[in-house]
Amino acid sequence: MPEAHIIGLGHYVPENIVTNDDLSELMDTSDQWIVDRTGIKERRFAALNQGPSDLAIPAVELAIDNAKINKEDIDFIIFATSTPDHYVPGSSCILQDKMNLNGIGALDIRVQCSGFVYGLSIAEQYIKSGQFNNILVIGAEVQSTAMDLTDRGRDTAVIFADGAGAAIISSQKLGGQILSTHLYSEGKYAKELWVESPSSSSRPTIDLAKINEGRHFLQMNGKEVFKHAVKRFPEVIIEGLEHNELSIADLDILIPHQANLRISKFIQKKLNLLDNQIFSNIHKYGNTTAASIPIAFSEALIQGKIYPGNIVALASFGSGFTWGSCIIKWVK
Ligand code: COA
Repeated sequence: MPEAHIIGLGHYVPENIVTNDDLSELMDTSDQWIVDRTGIKERRFAALNQGPSDLAIPAVELAIDNAKINKEDIDFIIFATSTPDHYVPGSSCILQDKMNLNGIGALDIRVQCSGFVYGLSIAEQYIKSGQFNNILVIGAEVQSTAMDLTDRGRDTAVIFADGAGAAIISSQKLGGQILSTHLYSEGKYAKELWVESPSSSSRPTIDLAKINEGRHFLQMNGKEVFKHAVKRFPEVIIEGLEHNELSIADLDILIPHQANLRISKFIQKKLNLLDNQIFSNIHKYGNTTAASIPIAFSEALIQGKIYPGNIVALASFGSGFTWGSCIIKWVK
């Protein structure tokens, strides 16, 4: 059976840096509050009229370069985003045309912060079945337009941000071999972190009253998210390792979804990891939802933190609630 390998990664963040002090000018918050509660010092916001497909392009180009393939070698596109360019068609199709990749299958997945791990899992199955040889998996978000940047939205507006990451998953035995993926969700918590409107179950899908109430912005029950995240992350990481007859002692680096530094610190303590065994860049980029893991993974490689023979774990938790892990062995 073919093996599924991650042979190239790339990332891109928009140029516009938004500091905590910048947000303090828009809402009643402070650098101290944001750093203490989330670990975030600054984040990037996309320029006017930049969608997730635009942010994805430089990330994809870098991933293709690093994979040493031609874009014509790509057989299939998986685009994970919770903030699509448009409701119809998906951002995978929008990106496909912008990058002249027409004529192959393109799939959007809406699994929020777990989107990249779910995307890897889908790609893994297609590669292992022999149907495709090179699959492009993207996580890209423009959250800045989906947040209420006033006092009313300050609990979410200081956390979420924009960015893109991409990976090429291939049957070539290079890079990181995907050993297994483990996916979960619990839809009963859907409303704990959601965007209510526009909604096709209401007529009209959105109206002025809903806009005035801010129901088209991301809403979060932060305490509930925190409580579940600190349980699910360690659980699914341990499950992934044990599935491969590995333990925490075998783990070289954990690249968690960059949800919140306090959540990462909790996982680190629970799993007894050293500082260099858990990657963090949330201070620079905030929580970029589906883009956070591929951005962090790409940066970890650029910073020389992953060596041949290393066991790498990716883990996610987010809206849905959804969560998952991916265990990788770095071969070259
Ligand atoms: N700046 C200043 N004060 C803020 C604020 C902000 N940006 N956002 C909320 N507050 C205030 C609240 O209004 C509240 O004020 P009050 O005590 O006068 O009512 C106070 O801070 C405490 O709010 P609370 O919601 O109890 O804070 P918390 O300790 O639960 O921290 C989060 C809030 C969001 C940081 C925290 O719940 C959290 O980290 N949750 C997980 C979020 C996450 O990781 N999401 C991503 C998942 S993918």
